Amino acid sequence: MSSSILNRAQAERELQRLIKAVEQHNYRYHVLDDPLISDAEFDRLFTQLICLENDFPELIDPNSPTQKMHGGVAEKFVPVTHATPMLSLDNVFDASGLGDFYRRVQQRLKTDEPLVFVGEPKLDGLAVSVRYEHGEFVGAATRGDGRTGEDITHTVRTIRSLPLRLRGQQVPAMLEVRGEVFMAREAFLAMNARAAERGEKIFANPRNAAAGSLRQLDAAVALERPLEIYFYAVARISDASRMESQTRALTCLKKWGLRVNPEVKTLTGLPALEQYYDELAKRRAQLPYEIDGVVFKIDSCAEQNTLGFVSRAPRWAIARKFPAQEEHTILEGVDFQVGRTGSITPVARLKPVSVGGVVVRNATLHNEDEIRRLDLRIGDRVVIYRAGDVIPKVVKVIQDARPAGAQRIIFPKNCPVCDSPLERESDQAVIRCSGGLACAAQIREAIKHFASRRAMDIEGLGEKLVDQLVNLGYVAHVADLYRLDEATLSALPRMGQKSAQNVLAALEKSKRTTLARFLFALGLREVGEATAAALASHFGSLNALRVADEAALLSVPDVGPVVAKHVLAFFANEHHCEVIDELLSVGVSWPAPSSERLNANAHHPLRGKIVVLTGTLTTMTREEAKARLKAIGAKVTGSVSAKTDVVFAGDQAGSKRAKAEALGVLIESEAQLVTYLSNV
Ligand code: IVH
Repeated sequence: MSSSILNRAQAERELQRLIKAVEQHNYRYHVLDDPLISDAEFDRLFTQLICLENDFPELIDPNSPTQKMHGGVAEKFVPVTHATPMLSLDNVFDASGLGDFYRRVQQRLKTDEPLVFVGEPKLDGLAVSVRYEHGEFVGAATRGDGRTGEDITHTVRTIRSLPLRLRGQQVPAMLEVRGEVFMAREAFLAMNARAAERGEKIFANPRNAAAGSLRQLDAAVALERPLEIYFYAVARISDASRMESQTRALTCLKKWGLRVNPEVKTLTGLPALEQYYDELAKRRAQLPYEIDGVVFKIDSCAEQNTLGFVSRAPRWAIARKFPAQEEHTILEGVDFQVGRTGSITPVARLKPVSVGGVVVRNATLHNEDEIRRLDLRIGDRVVIYRAGDVIPKVVKVIQDARPAGAQRIIFPKNCPVCDSPLERESDQAVIRCSGGLACAAQIREAIKHFASRRAMDIEGLGEKLVDQLVNLGYVAHVADLYRLDEATLSALPRMGQKSAQNVLAALEKSKRTTLARFLFALGLREVGEATAAALASHFGSLNALRVADEAALLSVPDVGPVVAKHVLAFFANEHHCEVIDELLSVGVSWPAPSSERLNANAHHPLRGKIVVLTGTLTTMTREEAKARLKAIGAKVTGSVSAKTDVVFAGDQAGSKRAKAEALGVLIESEAQLVTYLSNV
């Protein structure tokens, strides 16, 4: 129905209905991580709401979900005095520190009984205080010095997982809650990658990115940033009687639609605290966000009151910190690495330093703009950041520690490997070697990529061997690999006859592959595993892809103009075509999509099924699995619900697996997934 034919009263009712529906779906999506409807359906609802509000602007509710997009621009940050101060936490760094704390609390409470705590991840973001009145979001502030913070209502409003209206029946007249705003690791990396490409500022870590995004005067900037929030405390509430414990407080927050970290757990006794720490420490790198430790809080509010505070920290809580992720060291030099596509990456050579237990010798510097932005010189004392499995990076220079004679970094004009001139594409931060396949570094990298596990999976053909083969001139392109013989290989240093035979056997085995893997292995620019799988399943044969024009390419899901351009350029290159033909002539092959196989797709057991992937897959990436499942007509979703048909659980599957078990959803292994996919 067109909104213009509604009268005011009807419009009012319709608005309330739409707002309720959008709020409900936002809650399912962002807080419960369990959407009921597809993104497209949600977009339609949301657009309906926007249209109706456009027609009746006088009826716009300031806390309508559309108003997240209209935080506006603040002129300056207005100071806000916290009615309840925002405290910090005391830290301990090892088990004995935690034991001391535990016994101190027992002494103060005059008890030998096991104590009940709540264990929570210590999120590494920015603390905020958020106020609701009669269930409506009215304001938010930073911690500041703990007593006075800054008003950031306009930017906090944009956070998608923050409800602008509380849910449930007994919503308090006034509620002030505390929580942590953060950025998930993946979203942070993607945001930085986009920024690097555009030559914009790169954030040092997710915490800085979250803090920088909230402290924006213009809410439109914050809206673009992938911010999230978890709440962890009630600071003030109009009816305090119901908050007899932290466990109860968190349960209420959840009931009111506020997002609470799912890792939170009530724990009894010191061994339970230690176990909680150990378990989270182990899973730290797998969590989608960064935590710098765990927080233990005495559960009972009565006990909290007995224990009280010392200066700025409560006596009833403690943070057990993880080993640091940042360290200081000296920049000893900068090397310039040439990537597979010729991109030149400056890499910092560092005085070795242990960061969180791992010795770091190199760190990425991204690109020339980043070196300039950091104002980096050789000899500088620098701050290194390393989190999880992410490549270490230089995040800061300690300017005050700069030694006399620190040298400027000169970006080369020519490729450090083949001496071809370097080129910078306009509006891109990346500098590339123009040597193409005349550049030994690009050849080496292309071959390593070709042989890698997710590409042709040639076991035993590691980096060192590839370097030797290229340097000695035995291999000039990937097809040459299949012409190697035992005599040549076994004559190489550290390569007995047995290893030579193994490499040859692996080469032979790799010839039987899939079109998706082959395309990925060729290393077309911007064609990762998922895109390769999408191209393979769309075109079905290499020939069809080779002759595809731009329009045909653009009709493939996930292929945009940039990918299309690179695919066209790749197949227009004569050398590439020769190499492909040689690969085919030495016997590289894959099963052709016969009509039988296409039919098999139509009857595939997973066709039309709602599938969830969780845990770490070992035989393929999640992206590849997703693309292949989609290709056979399965619907891959991010969260488990009663509607899920099957959950494929890889290693270390956690909460999603548990939820599937609780809901009685079918759980299958990665091996079973592989079997399903091989039946295609
Ligand atoms: S409670 C009364 N719980 O850590 C205690 N803080 O070092 C106040 N933080 O400023 C804090 N996760 O930014 C608490 N689950 C959690 C937390 C947490 C992260 C941060 C918060 C606070 C800082 C204190």
